[in-house]
Amino acid sequence: MADLGTRYLGHRLQTPVVVGASPLTDDVRSAEALAEAGAGMLTLRSLVAGPLSLGVEVRRLPGSERHRRQHAMFAGLLDVPRFATDVEEYCEHLAAIRRAVGASVPVVASVYARSPQSWEATCRRVAAAGPAGIELNVYGMYANGHAVPRDPEEVIVAIVRAVRQHVRVPVAVKLLPVGRTLIRFVQRLRDVGADAVVLFNAFHRSDWFRGLEHDARLPGGPADPVVRYFWISRVSAVEGIDVAYSGGVRSVDQVAKATLCGAAAVQVVSLLMHEGPAAVRRLNEDLAAWVASRGQRKLRALQGEVSMRRYRLLDAFELAYTREILLGALPAMHSRERREARSGAHGRGRTGIAASGAEARGPTAG
Ligand SMILES: Cc1cc2nc3c(=O)[nH]c(=O)nc-3n(C[C@H](O)[C@H](O)[C@H](O)COP(=O)(O)O)c2cc1C
Repeated sequence: MADLGTRYLGHRLQTPVVVGASPLTDDVRSAEALAEAGAGMLTLRSLVAGPLSLGVEVRRLPGSERHRRQHAMFAGLLDVPRFATDVEEYCEHLAAIRRAVGASVPVVASVYARSPQSWEATCRRVAAAGPAGIELNVYGMYANGHAVPRDPEEVIVAIVRAVRQHVRVPVAVKLLPVGRTLIRFVQRLRDVGADAVVLFNAFHRSDWFRGLEHDARLPGGPADPVVRYFWISRVSAVEGIDVAYSGGVRSVDQVAKATLCGAAAVQVVSLLMHEGPAAVRRLNEDLAAWVASRGQRKLRALQGEVSMRRYRLLDAFELAYTREILLGALPAMHSRERREARSGAHGRGRTGIAASGAEARGPTAG
């Protein structure tokens, strides 16, 4: 099997397929199962620090009876409060997960603080519990109608700077890919000490809440990753900071495209909640098959092939990006379902596939 190793957030991971922040790791047994299935890294769901708005504590994760029956493995997830709020409990849980999965699968904490002071204090406490890194869940800052900061980017830079002064473990920042100055923003985050950015689409509810079918009427839904490909291919040209992709991974297609664009890691949540840890194994196998199909033995050889970092001429980059990412001249054929579906089918295009509708639309949102 091809070597899927990657470097992300200061760690060598066995694979770029990692578990995103979510209740998937609320339970030690499910964390173990995900690690055993081959997840490259686990991210705990966010610890929410500081005063909570009324009613938040009692909100439960929604989910249908169908989910409950279908996904016995994660059935318990539907009964947990939406947020973790007790920092000591969170740290104990982190330690328990670390013990259970061992050193080969790094475990990252996630923090969302509600007041400027609590970012620093909370991260300091969480860092002392020994996570492989801390992901700062700041994407809500762009869209929180109650407390829109004057300039969210300034506030986020200040948070990262303050956290960095007190915390040694690597720090990732989970962002929305919005704003025309994203590259400059990422450079500033790097300059104040961020080790990675996670580009995430929070404009639509996660697929978990409505099944995995993408509603084609919603451009930029979670299953439409085009804007994140666009930004990953550009942001990955920024030296000294890693980029991860989050949102809408359903098959190896998204993992491969994000990798070509330069993502060091690809976070998955909804798919795992629907299909359980087996989906991690399948993604890894399909990814290895894709790497082999490109004549390589290591994923790293393909990582960033369509990143702006590799090109001196913008035109050449745009051409490669259009061909590989927008026109879909790639990896889907190597996913098991498609391989099976293809048997007997006629080829279409260079590698036999057409771009998917959602992915061919262009960077409108995402
Ligand atoms: C039930 C659930 C809980 C989540 N909790 C968090 C969280 O605590 N912190 C966070 O940063 N993201 C959280 N997310 C967002 C995921 O980490 C991920 O970015 C998002 O679900 C998109 O990825 P997906 O399409 O693979 O689900 C959550 C998602 C789901 C479905």
